[in-house]
Amino acid sequence: MPRDIAFQKCIKPDCAATFGVTEVLEACPRCGNLLDVCYDWEKVPVPSSLADFEKRWATRRSPLDFSGVWRFRELLPFALPEDIVTIGEGQTLLRKCEPVAAYAGMKQDNLYLQYEGLNPSGSFKDNGMTAAFTHARMVGAARAACASTGNTSASVALYAACSGLLRAVVFIGKGKIALGKLVQALDSGALTLEIEGDFDDAMKRVMEVSGEEGIYLMNSVNPFRLEGQKAIMYRVLEALAWKPPDWIVVPGGNLGNSSAFGKAFMELSELGLVSRIPRLAVVNSTGANTLCTLVNNRDLRWNGGSFDDGVIDSYYAELDQVGKRAKTLASAIEINRPVNLKKCLRAVEIMDGVVCEVTDEEILDAKAKIAASSIGCEPASAASVAGVKKLVAEGTIGRDERVVCILTGHQLKDPDVTIAYHTGPGQDVGDKLAAYGVRQASFRNAPIPVPNDLGAIKEAIAANSNH
Ligand code: F0G
Repeated sequence: MPRDIAFQKCIKPDCAATFGVTEVLEACPRCGNLLDVCYDWEKVPVPSSLADFEKRWATRRSPLDFSGVWRFRELLPFALPEDIVTIGEGQTLLRKCEPVAAYAGMKQDNLYLQYEGLNPSGSFKDNGMTAAFTHARMVGAARAACASTGNTSASVALYAACSGLLRAVVFIGKGKIALGKLVQALDSGALTLEIEGDFDDAMKRVMEVSGEEGIYLMNSVNPFRLEGQKAIMYRVLEALAWKPPDWIVVPGGNLGNSSAFGKAFMELSELGLVSRIPRLAVVNSTGANTLCTLVNNRDLRWNGGSFDDGVIDSYYAELDQVGKRAKTLASAIEINRPVNLKKCLRAVEIMDGVVCEVTDEEILDAKAKIAASSIGCEPASAASVAGVKKLVAEGTIGRDERVVCILTGHQLKDPDVTIAYHTGPGQDVGDKLAAYGVRQASFRNAPIPVPNDLGAIKEAIAANSNH
């Protein structure tokens, strides 16, 4: 695929400045807005039907056909095959889950869970990182950086280790990332900087440092990363035999995923490859609800690209004035200044979307319910199911619509929160969770201490015969 069919373009329609694909930009140099990667589709050999991509299952020995991102390469054609950095990402699965459907108030056959925790670093980030590392190779970058609530740093560290192409430096808020994720960055050998502050502070610093030091930025302001994340939608469609669901439901943090999903469907629709675009629901935690506040309470909209920057600026000024910080047990989405906010607004417009927020207690109950009937996930991921439950209850999602929840990260990423949930005193949770407004663990499952004695063990099993 020749490089000249791809270019970068400002998302703001009345700017629409374009830049070459080998320029390294974090924002439009003319107006400061985010950039998209765009294509001259007439020059791309896009298959006439999405089902044609399935043919690549037969040639899975080729790394590009094996990758759950690059086997759709005609839909993100910015790189030459020899530039592509892949470590086998995207071997994910979509599972129907009847007990979770019942929990969310849906008809039993209508709720699906898309497991992105099965990626090499255990989260959806690898879909984006393969694309960003590919671009980094195209431009000859030597060092990569990111700020992270944990999964981006794990993914950057892993791709740097596996590819041997770049040295990784990751910025994390001190005490702000789950242990499983910190383990990954350290073990993969990334230079790990613990900033005194939270994700929003780390993000601001990494942008400054990468600009000044010429370090390649791997956060989702990087438009190439989001190109890879479009593939999550391609795999969901493939698993549903190319019939779009009614809803895609995704947790919202820095809003990269939701933005990528909107772009994926915008392009598939333009290319005539889908007859219908699913609706999108983006779910915030109540402790990190910037998107929800701006859309639902302050009427912020993409508005065809004429969004009102003033609404965003004044909200951030208010946050600063009262010193309000994001605070949620779903640490992956503990973000108050999502860098992709405007692209997400566009996705909400394209996909006729809604946004909502759920409490940490709702998130943790949904997480326990998911794990008790299917493959487990981390807290942030479960916001999707908690969101469906809420949206079904209020009548926004119909109980017989078909819904796909994106489970963004692996169950073992955050053992601390899970242990606290299951082992708190009685149904009352311990102090750690109570500090986040969690009052009760409805699906608590604490270990039962038993003496090392055969009789006592048998008694314990008999006493819990319904378990
Ligand atoms: N779920 C998980 C498990 C995440 O790690 C993240 C983001 C999200 C959801 C939110 O996705 O940012 O695309 O809206 N984690 C980032 C990180 C911010 O640094 O790992 P988003």
